[in-house]
Amino acid sequence: MSLRRDAILREMGLAPVWRLRGRQAQPEPEPVLQPAAPTPASGPAQGRVRSDLRDGAGDLPQPVSTRSHTDVGDGVMGLGWDALEARIRGCEACGLCRRRKQAVPGVGDRQADWLFVGEGPGAEEDERGEPFVGQAGRLLDAMLASIDLKRGEDVYIANAVKCRPPNNRTPEAAELAACFPYLQRQIALIQPRLIVALGRPAAQALLNEEVRIAAARGKLHSHGGIPVVVTYHPAYLLRNLQDKAKAWDDLCFARRSMRGLKHA
Ligand code: URA
Repeated sequence: MSLRRDAILREMGLAPVWRLRGRQAQPEPEPVLQPAAPTPASGPAQGRVRSDLRDGAGDLPQPVSTRSHTDVGDGVMGLGWDALEARIRGCEACGLCRRRKQAVPGVGDRQADWLFVGEGPGAEEDERGEPFVGQAGRLLDAMLASIDLKRGEDVYIANAVKCRPPNNRTPEAAELAACFPYLQRQIALIQPRLIVALGRPAAQALLNEEVRIAAARGKLHSHGGIPVVVTYHPAYLLRNLQDKAKAWDDLCFARRSMRGLKHA
C-alpha cells in the first residue's frame, strides 16, 4: 500500500481494518451491470425520512402522501447550466427557501463520469454556497481520494435538496420532491456514467423507492438507465465508525463498476 493510500485510509479510519482483513490480496471481481430493481427516474419515493432512520438505522418510515406544492419541473428540463443555477438560487418551491442564506446548486466537472449525491447543505455549505465543505465534506474528499478521485476532476457533487434544512434535519419527502427536477436536470446535463448516492434520502430520491442502505449496498441500481451505487453518508460515518469499512467496500465496488462501464 502506498504511503498516500495509507494516509487516506487512516483519515477514513480504515487502515487497521484494511490490514486485518487483508483485502488487497483478494482479486476484485467485476460487478455484473444489472439493475437491482426497476427504478423509474420519475421522482423521489413518498414518505418522510426521519433523521433517526437515516442511513439504514431503524425501521422503515411510514409512507405518507406528499406532493410537490409548486411545479418546479415546469421548464427546468430545458435549462442550460447558468439558467438552471439561477433558477435554483431563486427557488421558492418549498419552505426551505425561507431560512437559507443561499441555495447550493452543486460543484465540479460538468462533464464528469462520476456524480456523488448527498442529502442537503449544512450550515457551512449554506454559508459558502458549495456542497460538502464541512466536516462531512472533508471525509467525502478523503473517500474520493481513496479511489483516486478528486473534487472537481471528473467528479460532480450535488445534493438531493439544494437548500439547508433547518437544524440539519433530514429533508422531508415533499422537499425532496420539490427539488428533484433540479437534480434530474443536473443529471441530464452531466450525463454521468455512474451515480453514488450518499445516504438514504439521496438513494430514495434517485431510486424512487424506499431504501435501506444496508440492504441496497453492493448492488448496481439504476436511475433512468444510469447505474447507481448506494452507500453511507459521510456524516453518518463520522458518527458510526464501524461502518467505514463497509463504505470502503462500496467505493471499491463503485470503482470496479466504473471500470466495467468504461470497458463495456
Ligand atoms: N451533507 C450533505 O448531504 N451535503 C452537503 O453538502 C453537506 C453535508
